[in-house]
Parts: sequence; C-alpha cells; structure tokens
Amino acid sequence: MKTICILGMGYIGLPTACMMANNGYEVLGIDINDGIVNNLSSGKLHIEEPDLEEVFLKAFKEGKLKVSKKVEKSDVYIIAVPTPVKEDDKADLSYVIGAAEMIKDFVSKDNLVILESTSPPGTTRNVVGSIIEKNTKLAAGTDFHLAFCPERVLPGKIIYELVNNDRVVGGFNEKSAELAKEVYRSFVKGSIYTTTLETSEFVKLAENTYRDVNIAFANELADICEEYKISIWDVVKFANMHPRVNILNPGPGVGGHCIAIDPWFIIENIRKKDTLIEKCRRINNSRPFVISNKIAEILNNIKNPKIAIFGIAYKENVGDTRESPALVIIDELSKKGFEVFIYDPCVTNYKGKLNSLDDSLNDADLLLLFAAHDTFKGISLDLIAQKMRNKNIFDTRNFYNQDEVEKAGIKYYRI
Ligand SMILES: NC(=O)c1ccc[n+]([C@@H]2O[C@H](COP(=O)([O-])OP(=O)(O)OC[C@H]3O[C@@H](n4cnc5c(N)ncnc54)[C@H](O)[C@@H]3O)[C@@H](O)[C@H]2O)c1
Repeated sequence: MKTICILGMGYIGLPTACMMANNGYEVLGIDINDGIVNNLSSGKLHIEEPDLEEVFLKAFKEGKLKVSKKVEKSDVYIIAVPTPVKEDDKADLSYVIGAAEMIKDFVSKDNLVILESTSPPGTTRNVVGSIIEKNTKLAAGTDFHLAFCPERVLPGKIIYELVNNDRVVGGFNEKSAELAKEVYRSFVKGSIYTTTLETSEFVKLAENTYRDVNIAFANELADICEEYKISIWDVVKFANMHPRVNILNPGPGVGGHCIAIDPWFIIENIRKKDTLIEKCRRINNSRPFVISNKIAEILNNIKNPKIAIFGIAYKENVGDTRESPALVIIDELSKKGFEVFIYDPCVTNYKGKLNSLDDSLNDADLLLLFAAHDTFKGISLDLIAQKMRNKNIFDTRNFYNQDEVEKAGIKYYRI
C-alpha cells in the first residue's frame, strides 16, 4: 500500500495526512470546502496547532501531500469528516455518507477503507461498508478491507499525541485490522491494539462518555455543596487525596465536538431507557442555564447591566468555540436584556462580534471568567477593578485566587 486518499482536511484529517505523507506514503487530501483546498494547495494552513505548520510544509514542499476536491484512485481511503449531533440528539451521518459516496466509484480489489470519524457502533460496517459493497459488488473483508481507527488526540497537542498515544483499531476481520495497523504504524510510536469494528467504535464513545459522566458528577456535587455552603473546590481537592478517587472539576458545561456529543451516539440505538448517560448529558447541558441564572441574581438591582466574558472557547487555551456552553450563556444573558461583551484573544472561528479588552471591561458590572486561558493571568486585577462600574467576578473555573480578587476590591463568586 503506497497511496492514501484522506477525506476531510480538518483538525484530524490534515495532521494525519501530514504524518502519513512524511512517513512513506503519497497522500492526497480531499475537502469539499473550496477555501480550505485553495489555502492548503498554496501552502497555507487554516488550523492553528503546535508543530502542524512544520509537518505540513515538509510534506507539501516534498510533494508527498497534495490537496484537491476530487478523489483519485488510491490503495487506502480514510474518512475523517465531521459527525455532529442533530436536533433530535442522534448522529448526523450525512458527511460520512457523503464521503463514502465520493470514494465508492474508486474502491477496487484489495483496497483498504478506514473510517476515523467518531460514529455510533455499526457505522463502519452498515454505512460505509454497505455503500461500497452495493456500488462495487465487492465484499468487505474478502475483496476489500474495512477498518475503524478512532482518534483520541487533545486539541493543542494533536501532533504530539498522534505520534505518542496508544490506539485501538477495529477491523472487519483480522486481516483488515492488521492492514490498518500497518498504515498507522508508519508514524505512531504508541501501542496499536486490534479488535472488532464495533468494539473500537464503542471504545471511542465510552472514553468520552466516561469524562462526561464524571464531569456531571462533579457538577451535581457542586450544586449540593452550595446547599451546604461549602466549597466544591475544597471537596474535590481533599477527596482526591484518596489514592483511588479522582473527581473531575465542576464547570459551566461541556463543549467541543467530542465529549458533548459522543455520549448521545452510545444510547441512540439502544432499547434501554432512562440511562445514566442521558441524565449526565442533561446535567451538563443545564449548566449554562444555572450559571446565567446565578449571574441574573447577582446583578438583580443593577440597571442595564453590562457583562464582560473572558474566554468563549469551549476550554482553556484553544481557539475553538464548537458546542461551547459560553454561546448558550451569551444567548441566555442577552435574552435577559444584559449587554454582553466578549474578550477572547485565542478564538479564531467565532461568527459573532469579539471585543477588545478595554471595550469589554469599561463600565462592566460583572466579569464572567468562562475559559481559563493562560493569557488572562497577565491582566492585573487592579486594572480590572479600575475599569469596571460594579466590581464583580464570577469565576466558573476556580481560576482566580479569592484573596487576591477581594484585595483588589472586587466581589468574588465562583461555582
Ligand atoms: N478534533 C478533535 O480533537 C477530534 C478528536 C477525536 C475525534 N474527532 C472526530 O474526528 C472527526 C473529524 O473531526 P475534525 O475535528 O477533524 O472535523 P473538522 O470540522 O475540523 O474537519 C472536517 C473536514 O471535513 C470536510 N468534509 C466534510 N464532508 C466532506 C467530504 N464528503 N469529503 C471531504 N471532506 C469533507 C469539512 O469541510 C471539514 O474541513 C469527527 O468525527 C470528530 O468527532 C475529532
């Protein structure tokens, strides 16, 4: 296997394409977005990620990675397109289906087809495999090979984790799994374990659901601690001194394209009702409403309140606002008639208006710390106090030191 065609030049497909291109394969990257294809074809990146530029430019300049809108005949086809969740909380597989339709006329005997997009169990076999089988009359597992190779990288550390993380690869049969393993082995230093298609699809979902459920537990504890008037942060700190306890942090909700979505994929096709997984999803989804109601209480007596939000990315030190609970909070606060100013120097893909630091803080009545970007550490509390009309900080991440905030003459609230 020498040539690889990767569909989807996003956060996952592009770094993967670069790594494969720099490790012995001729790679063709495909995207349906003209802007992305034009940018990449002229050597320009559309994603900010440490070390990505270096690996991309190497692959691009050496002619090992080409980018196009049109699929070409290859030995391996990898699908790394989005799998969002629909209004009804079910997986939107339209991009996966679209990508499978794009390759179906090209797949021939002995080719390997890999799905990387996080998907409900059964998708590789019943959606991708079926589309190709129907069109080519080739049988998965015998005539062509079929695998699921999920991704577990952390945005901000994608290149490092692509290389160093362990992976779980699922195959239609052992041969498919082994062939997929061989492709990833070209650049992965971590261990690569093989299993069935459905097990690997489920493992990926279980990993993110584990995080979601544990965050929901922390959020529920936070609500209970409030009734007892004790600090959840102290509880988490002291409880985690137990050698077998690791409670996660509570927060303003769960965002991003993985943890907030993947639990729905586990439960969408099952008979069991009233699952813990769904309850936890709903607890985490309720957090932005809990936070905006608390803010409304704090600012109850203030006329035309203005709120400055620090950070709207779904988590600290990334520029991604997909599924960010901050967007729900902004919406809720606007509905309540509050003026909301957003300061986020990390964010690049937000369609609404971002404000400067000064415009956000001037005459603000409350600073809501949403995403704990490191860069906020450099903004002095005295400066914040000086610019605000009413001096309140609501800290959703335990980011500030309460004594320091109060010393600057600012009232401090936190989850
Ligand atoms: N980003 C992460 O950290 C991460 C981690 C683990 C798993 N995943 C999963 O990986 C998959 C891809 O995620 P992403 O973050 O790279 O998405 P992304 O939105 O960054 O990129 C996907 C790209 O696919 C393109 N696309 C859509 N349909 C296409 C088609 N038919 N042919 C070619 N290109 C097409 C889009 O234009 C887009 O550029 C998702 O299933 C996601 O859940 C992502």
